[in-house]
This record gives sequence, structure tokens and C-alpha cells, in this order.
Amino acid sequence: MSGAGEVRVGIIGCGGIAQAKHIPNLKKKEGAVIAALSDVRGKEYLERVCGELGVTGAKLCTDYWELLADPTIEVVHICTPNASHAQLTIEALEAGKHVMCEKPMATDLEEAKAMVEAQRRSGKKLTICANNRFTPAMWYLKGRCARGELGEIYFAKAHCVRRRGVPTWGEFLDREKQGGGPVLDLGTHAVDLALWMMDNYKPKKVTGKTFYKLGAQGSPANPYGDWDPARFTVEDSGFAMIEMENGAVIWLETSWALNTRDERPVSVTLCGTQAGADVTEGLTINTERDGRLVDEKIVLEPRTIPFYEPEQVYGPQLEISQWIDAVREDKDPVVRPEQMYTVQRVIRAVYESSEAGESISI
Ligand SMILES: NC(=O)c1ccc[n+]([C@@H]2O[C@H](COP(=O)([O-])OP(=O)(O)OC[C@H]3O[C@@H](n4cnc5c(N)ncnc54)[C@H](O)[C@@H]3O)[C@@H](O)[C@H]2O)c1
Repeated sequence: MSGAGEVRVGIIGCGGIAQAKHIPNLKKKEGAVIAALSDVRGKEYLERVCGELGVTGAKLCTDYWELLADPTIEVVHICTPNASHAQLTIEALEAGKHVMCEKPMATDLEEAKAMVEAQRRSGKKLTICANNRFTPAMWYLKGRCARGELGEIYFAKAHCVRRRGVPTWGEFLDREKQGGGPVLDLGTHAVDLALWMMDNYKPKKVTGKTFYKLGAQGSPANPYGDWDPARFTVEDSGFAMIEMENGAVIWLETSWALNTRDERPVSVTLCGTQAGADVTEGLTINTERDGRLVDEKIVLEPRTIPFYEPEQVYGPQLEISQWIDAVREDKDPVVRPEQMYTVQRVIRAVYESSEAGESISI
């Protein structure tokens, strides 16, 4: 059984994101124990992962039911391709586990709804990964927004635009397994940031357009390797206007491949009645003071003398850390499932609008 303050975690799906984010950051979190790993690729694969990442003592399972049946495991992280998120999350909640599920929440809205309902029924905690909330810039900006310093935020851009950045590993290009391309994969992060900053979860109408243009051509310039257009069954870019009940508007831009030099990482641009926020060259709060326009550049890195830097915990490390603390201290996680359900609703409406060729009322 768990020791005092110890949180025993099992991970289902041990591919890219489990190895890059979940395992290293669980290892950094005091009191978190990686108790079990499961992957359909088999035990030899899992042994290699453990060897490479220095995980010791974890139970290795090819069948995730072995992990769910272990009463000492309190928390399950779901890191499988999108199509299995809902099923695995619901099964884990019903098995009495707290669940952190990778984004996007699910491949369709009904599944996302079933996840929220399963969480309520189980009384266990559910969070969806939204690591972009935890970057130094976005974490800081949320504080300014929450204190009302931007005033009423009535226009936002939610963006993640890659000139070439098609994920050619795993199942990302397969509509059946993923449910969508960059609108779902990147738009989930960007829309989440916009709604969170605005603290507005009431979308009203979505007008969207998705494209499959460069996906049909292939690109030897893609940093993750060229793709086979025949297997690229999702969109390569997508754009939308999201109107909120209170009249605010969010402009969404996402692409894995687009012939543009205006590339953007996952982030938001905000325009409020008191100030705006831009992230093009670091984080700037744009306002007006003493009859002049003021660009307030925020210094996010600590300025200190070498060897005496205070420890800074941001990004994925903060995401995992706050989640384990939420479980241990019985608090709400920063990313709540109802919020991510609304994100999923908006994303679904972008696809529906594009298909229908008209706006979708939510
Ligand atoms: N938060 C982020 O920024 C971010 C970044 C990358 C990926 N992701 C998400 O993480 C998820 C996984 O992506 P990835 O890049 O790690 O993919 P991946 O293909 O590298 O890894 C997925 C792993 O899950 C395993 N798997 C599949 N079904 C399983 C099952 N039933 N039981 C056990 N193992 C199973 C596969 O064998 C594979 O090893 C996706 O939903 C993706 O959207 C999120």
C-alpha cells in the first residue's frame, strides 16, 4: 500500500508524450511513485523505456487491466492515441482511480460528455493535459487577467501556426484514430488558453474552415520527415471565428503545414478594454499611461547571480506537480474537465461548420 503522502501512479501508453513529459516529471515530483507502466508494445519495450528513463520497481503490463486492478495505484495517466482516451478514462474512473488524460479530451463530443459524467459518478478527480497554461508567460498572464487588469477581454487570437510541423510519428495523420488534425491537436491548446484567460466558457456561434492542401502534396522540408499523402486523412490547417454569448470574439488559427512566415507557437493574443497582451517577442502588456502608449515588457526569467538561481517550476513540471498536489490535498486540479468539454465543443463546431459551409450555433 501507499506510504504516507505517497501517490502511486500507473501510466497507460508509454510512447512519445509519456517518455518526454509524464515519466520525467513524475520522477521529479516528491512523493509521486511510478508504480506501473502499460503499453501494448510489450514488456521488452517497457523494459527499454524503464532502462532509458531510470524507472525502477514499476510493474510492467501489456494489458492495462492489470494496472487498473492494482488497489495500490491511486492515479492513472492516459497517454494513448486520442481514440482510446474516453474508454480508458471511463474505465479507470470506474476502477476508482483519479485520472490525468492527455489532450485532446476525446475524438468526439459524446465521448467527452461521457467522461465528465463518469467523473461526477465516480467522485474521483479528472484532469486533461493543457500544459500550455503552465508556461511562465501564460501562467503570469492568467494572474493579470484574473485580477481584471486587462479589463473586459472582447477580442482574442488563439493561435498555433506551423509552417512545417506535421507529426509523422504515431497515429496523428489517421482520422479514425485521432479524430482530426491541427484544429483538434493544436487548436485544443489554443482555444483552451483563450477561454481560460477570458474566463468565458459560453461560446455561441462558430464559423470555421479546414483545409487539406499541403497534406495532399507531401513535403520533404517537414522536420519530422515527409508523409504519405494517402495516409494523411486529416486536415493540414484550419481557421475559425468563435463568437461568445457576451459578444466577445476569438479568432483561431492552426496549421501543421502552411506557406507562411507568420509562424506562432501555441499562445494567445488578448485585447481588453484596459490593456492587451501580445506574445510575438516575449510577453508584452500593451496599455496607455500619461497620454502615451506603453508596451510593458515582462521579464519572465529570473535575473540572478550564477549558482544562486531560485528553483523555477513551470511548464510540464508544474502541470504534473499541481495535479499530484490536487490528488494529495483533495483540491480541484487547475484544468477542470467541464472546461475542456467546452473546448471540445468549440473544436467540434469548427469541423461541423467547415463541412456544412455555414456557421454553427452552439
Ligand atoms: N500535451 C501535449 O502537448 C501533447 C504532445 C504530444 C502528444 N500528446 C497527446 O498524447 C497522446 C499520445 O501521443 P504520443 O505522441 O505519445 O503517441 P505515441 O504513438 O508515441 O504513443 C502512444 C502509445 O500508446 C500505446 N498504446 C496504444 N493503445 C494502448 C492501450 N490500449 N494500452 C496500452 N498502450 C497503448 C502505443 O503502443 C504507444 O506506445 C495523444 O493523445 C496526443 O495528442 C499531447
